[in-house]
Amino acid sequence: MAKMWAGRSSGITDSIADDFNSSISFDSRMYKQDISGSMAHAAMLAEVGIISAKDADDLIDGLQGILDDIESGKLEFDPGCEDIHMFVEQVLTERIGDTGKKLHTARSRNDQVALDLRMYLRDEAAELDTLIRELTEVLVSVAEKNMGAVMPGYTHLQRAQPILFSHHIMAYAMMLLRDKARIVDAAKRMNISPIGSCAFAGTTYHTDRGFEAEKLGFDGISQNSIDGVSDRDFCLELMSAIAILMMHMSRLSEEIVLWTSWEFKFVELSDSYTTGSSIMPQKKNSDMAELIRGKTGRVYGDLMALLTTLKGLPLAYNKDMQEDKEAVFDAVDTVKMCLKVMTPMIDTMKIIPENMRKAANEGFINATDLADYMVKKGLPFRNAYKISGSIVADCIKRGLVLDTYPLEDYRKYSELIDKDVYDEINIDNCVEKRISAGGTSSISVKAQIAWVKAELEA
Ligand code: ARG
Repeated sequence: MAKMWAGRSSGITDSIADDFNSSISFDSRMYKQDISGSMAHAAMLAEVGIISAKDADDLIDGLQGILDDIESGKLEFDPGCEDIHMFVEQVLTERIGDTGKKLHTARSRNDQVALDLRMYLRDEAAELDTLIRELTEVLVSVAEKNMGAVMPGYTHLQRAQPILFSHHIMAYAMMLLRDKARIVDAAKRMNISPIGSCAFAGTTYHTDRGFEAEKLGFDGISQNSIDGVSDRDFCLELMSAIAILMMHMSRLSEEIVLWTSWEFKFVELSDSYTTGSSIMPQKKNSDMAELIRGKTGRVYGDLMALLTTLKGLPLAYNKDMQEDKEAVFDAVDTVKMCLKVMTPMIDTMKIIPENMRKAANEGFINATDLADYMVKKGLPFRNAYKISGSIVADCIKRGLVLDTYPLEDYRKYSELIDKDVYDEINIDNCVEKRISAGGTSSISVKAQIAWVKAELEA
């Protein structure tokens, strides 16, 4: 069958070229947006007198019928149609006759696809907003429920200073709040209507772009018709925000993989979010966390793919731009899946504070506090640092820790050290003394929890 655009050419194409050119297998997911866009377009055409009110009613009724039939499964997408836009128009014309042919007045598929994609992605952004909120709330509740758990904080993956486990978890809550804000921000700029840009140069018809934009819930119209059909920065902004979010989830996943290993055993995941091995009976693997970490690379790839597709394109529309959809859909689908599995996985994970505590007691993570103790008694920090380090070395030699190191030995290094040193280097005290804003004491962490809750409410 000849294509709808037959005219200049026969419209008869090679079947392999057809398959290659076709996007309906992946853009059919925008059918709802395409149909509501067309309804608004028909209403606008009648409003300004380009078509009659009767024609608009027929178009809108026909479109509604198509929507209903797609949703009920009565109408299947025709893979022979080039894309969702052609499909809807073709079915409409089959169903209501010549009036259907009036729908495409004063628009083009170029502004139509830009419109559909913006509408589709703004809904996805709203869903992401909710999913990130849910994960953040779960992190907050895990932090609240486990306030007493003390663990070593790490730098270079070496035990460094004692912290509250809740403090560590709240660091991720802060990151997620920013991820959420980035997505909301991207959605704001996305919510500008390109429809009425037509092929790219605008139109000779006296259209009302504002009317159509308002009907579709946009905040305004794009101010340059060439820009309106040519750019996909709204996809890139969303994908960048998603890539950063994936990076954050990937770091948390990496920690979960570490924490669930026998070497750490700080947490245990619920059986619902782990897998076994087909050969090693003892295994309980953190596959979900590993997959989130793995899928992060894939989402970066989606972003890089679209950036690369766009970088050399002359204005205005080029068919290369059809490549935008699979990339952005994949990024959105993937991050949604990751959020949906991460939230309950974190919610149901069991914390093992004894093991955290054991690790905290073994790593000389109070050596900074020992140095600070001497500083408070008048020693310059650099000297105190050196003494503390030498004592640690002696402890290691003798199989002791700072908490069990005898006072008389301490005093060989410095007369300033007294028996109150043991209080000072007590791991819980080391945590609770760090009352600086944003610090690890329970007072500071509770303030962080309250802050995140207030931000989520705002
Ligand atoms: N399927 C196309 C896309 O996704 C729609 C726009 C086609 N426009 C054109 N002039 N061929 O980009």
